[in-house]
Amino acid sequence: MVFKIAKLPGDGIGPEIIDQAVKVLNAIGEKYNQKFEFEFGLVGAIAIDEVGNPYPEETHNLCMNSDAVLFGAIGDSKYDNNPKSKVRPEQGLLEMRKRLQLYANIRPVRTFKTLINKSPLRSELVEGADFIVIRELTGGIYYGELRGRTEDGTKAFDTNVYSRSEIVRVTKLAFEFSAKRRRKLTAIDKANVLATSRLWRETIQEMEKDYPDIEVEHMLVDNAAMQIIQWPKKFDVLITENMFGDILSDEASVITGSMGLIPSASIGIHTSVFEPIHGSYPQAAGKDIANPLATVLSAAMLLESFNLNNEAIKVHEAVNASLKEGIVTEDIDKEKPVSTSKLGDWLAEWIVNKS
Ligand code: IPM
Ligand code: MG
Repeated sequence: MVFKIAKLPGDGIGPEIIDQAVKVLNAIGEKYNQKFEFEFGLVGAIAIDEVGNPYPEETHNLCMNSDAVLFGAIGDSKYDNNPKSKVRPEQGLLEMRKRLQLYANIRPVRTFKTLINKSPLRSELVEGADFIVIRELTGGIYYGELRGRTEDGTKAFDTNVYSRSEIVRVTKLAFEFSAKRRRKLTAIDKANVLATSRLWRETIQEMEKDYPDIEVEHMLVDNAAMQIIQWPKKFDVLITENMFGDILSDEASVITGSMGLIPSASIGIHTSVFEPIHGSYPQAAGKDIANPLATVLSAAMLLESFNLNNEAIKVHEAVNASLKEGIVTEDIDKEKPVSTSKLGDWLAEWIVNKS
């Protein structure tokens, strides 16, 4: 079978890390006799520079007509340093999520034995931590239409809006994930302050009745931020709104020792998007030093979405082998790092010839 993959490298280190994921997928194709066809699409700052739109119609059509989207990163310091800019690269990502209706973002946080000593936390706290952050992705304060500035420019406002049906569809998915794992769901909100959070809590409390064998814990987001760092092992599946999920997943990622290791899948109504959770790291762009593993592991999630489970396991084995052999980028080993492209070559070679 031929799988059509839209390749959207985006900005900063995006192109370099995507190249490595493509090498790995091609190696998997060779090993397992599958064919992956990649087609490039513009998104982000580079799309603004080239066609004046961070998510061009052509890119949207490409995504809609593909079996999956492999996405790199978005963002450019030229826009970060200019808050007055009318068009921003991040709008491309947000529009893509909205138009593909990717309402759930799955961010698995797993620790790697060989990297336990890289974690900022004591190893006995992190060893064996394994949980999934499920982040609502197309609603909340990221999309509230009522936003802007007062005329005199001295006040600004954003609005956080959620409907019951938006909460139900993503929470249903979280219950389904829980049922396949340790049956423990933590629902995170700020129900002691926010009306939207109270709707989240009320809705999830109603849904709990349909899943009697899943233990549900409701937790306030500030408390959750503390507990994720203090007892990462107690979590299994976390469900939360868009903004809390953005923040907590970055926090959770460092537990593993490097943010460069956390993949994600955004799923919903149309084509799913697979992307690392880290940003575009503009300081490293073009230097061949960025860690491609989060993108490679996102490619493994892409394979799972095609039900190519043995192929996905093989990618994980290749990543584990590279970590074990110390074939790692400088975020993990400052003394003897390999380059981004060398790591990609090593993984592809391992898959084809050594496994
Ligand atoms: C993420 C990123 C994005 C977000 C940015 C780049 C808009 O931080 O995917 O977590 O906030 O969703
Ligand atoms: Mg983020």
